[in-house]
Amino acid sequence: MIPLPLARIAEITSGALAGMADPRAVVRGPVVIDSRAAEPGSLFVAIKGDRADGHDFAAQAVAAGAVAVLAERPVEAPAVIVDDVLAALAALATAACAELPDCTVIGVTGSSGKTSTKDLLARLTARVGPTIAPAGSFNNEIGHPLTVLRADETTRCLVLELSAKNVGHIAYLARIAPPKIGVVLNVGTAHLGFFGSRETIAQAKGELVEALPADGVAVLNADDPLVAAMAGRTRARVTWYGRAESADVRAEDVTVDERGRASFTLRTPSGSAPVGLRLYGEHAVENALAAAAAAYELGLPVAVIAQELSEAEPRSRWRMEVTDRADGVTVINDAYNANPDSMRAAFRALDALAGPRRRFAVVASLAELGEHSDALNEGVGRMAGEAGLAGLVVVGQDAEPILAGARTAVEEAASGAPPGPRPRPATRVVHAADTAEAAALLEGMLAPGDVVLVKGSRAAGLERVAHALVGGDGQ
Ligand SMILES: Nc1ncnc2c1ncn2[C@@H]1O[C@H](COP(=O)(O)OP(=O)(O)OP(=O)(O)O)[C@@H](O)[C@H]1O
Ligand SMILES: [Mg+2]
Repeated sequence: MIPLPLARIAEITSGALAGMADPRAVVRGPVVIDSRAAEPGSLFVAIKGDRADGHDFAAQAVAAGAVAVLAERPVEAPAVIVDDVLAALAALATAACAELPDCTVIGVTGSSGKTSTKDLLARLTARVGPTIAPAGSFNNEIGHPLTVLRADETTRCLVLELSAKNVGHIAYLARIAPPKIGVVLNVGTAHLGFFGSRETIAQAKGELVEALPADGVAVLNADDPLVAAMAGRTRARVTWYGRAESADVRAEDVTVDERGRASFTLRTPSGSAPVGLRLYGEHAVENALAAAAAAYELGLPVAVIAQELSEAEPRSRWRMEVTDRADGVTVINDAYNANPDSMRAAFRALDALAGPRRRFAVVASLAELGEHSDALNEGVGRMAGEAGLAGLVVVGQDAEPILAGARTAVEEAASGAPPGPRPRPATRVVHAADTAEAAALLEGMLAPGDVVLVKGSRAAGLERVAHALVGGDGQ
């Protein structure tokens, strides 16, 4: 971060120095919320969470070298006392960002693929100049300002993931670090429970492009109508990406290999280059195009973009991690999170990767879908029940809607209904109370050469099943 004396931090946050804090002592970063991550030069931000209160760890942070604590009440350490720590953290990030005119802020939002796209884009912008991007998701009112505060005078690109659980959230995050480029991926059904409708989700995601200046660029998905409609909500120039022929940055001649990895020709207004992704799943093409379009706007040559995209490996954990066991069983660990759209994308990837091999899936209920929860989970069950699985394991106490959907699909296939594409009913549909039982059930069913997809909501913790299957450490 840019060095700031405590007196300036107090001014920015409308706070008061306490605990014998030296107004001239300089915070050089990192700004941390975990006292164990504090080091000399740190500012420790005391946040009261559900389980722990950061204020209790103030002394520990200062012992580890933190210059001071940003706190809501006096602590046994030098501190800047403020009314609201999160508001103060946001104010600090806003002020720090405002002092970095040479840093281009790029925001990425959408229902699915933010982290994957952010990771790809950060790799591309690293070819433009020093880049700061968050690890993993880190996209909320805490992670976002902490990431912004990592930038300093040398930073040329700040690549941020903006997530919303309600209208106004993205506008708030965009005020902290005003983006010059805004990328909107898709409007799906993730977090439908918080929003109520897809239109409201589009309303919220579009706040990113509303925040762009007239000399900024909105990078929009030409293939998603709700995203395309956002072109009318921005002062910025629009660059389109997608499969559509009208898209400025597009993929042509997409093929998917036997491992489910896509290759395509990347076309831009100034030339084309071949891309062969190492990332699994055809949905990675959308994310790659979005990252490519933003990088193109930053002036990166098409050949460099294509080369970097082709060399990129998954950066954030548990997203389409594919592992081959010694016995030839392939495990697809996509357990980071799930919503109806990413579930569909994962089943398509399973289909491509499995080919003629037997396929299995371990799934858990999708969360945060509100009143639509049962219907959407039943839909997931139906999809899984029709995906030609040799075995479907549904995990958890709230598995009933998925189980019901899967069983209906299997029964309908047995009775010859419904008309349409050839049904591929699951051979077995079983329930597991928890992840340990799921792993045990699967081991009993698997044979060499099989393919297993593991995917559920974050809360389900299905990575434990994936780790049990591949013999990992469960971390
Ligand atoms: N373009 C896409 N369309 C559909 N699904 C996708 C897409 N990109 C990634 N996914 C899937 O969505 C899941 C989450 O991916 P990722 O972490 O990149 O998304 P995110 O938007 O950051 O999610 P979160 O809101 O949880 O932070 C993964 O299972 C991934 O395989
Ligand atoms: Mg994310």
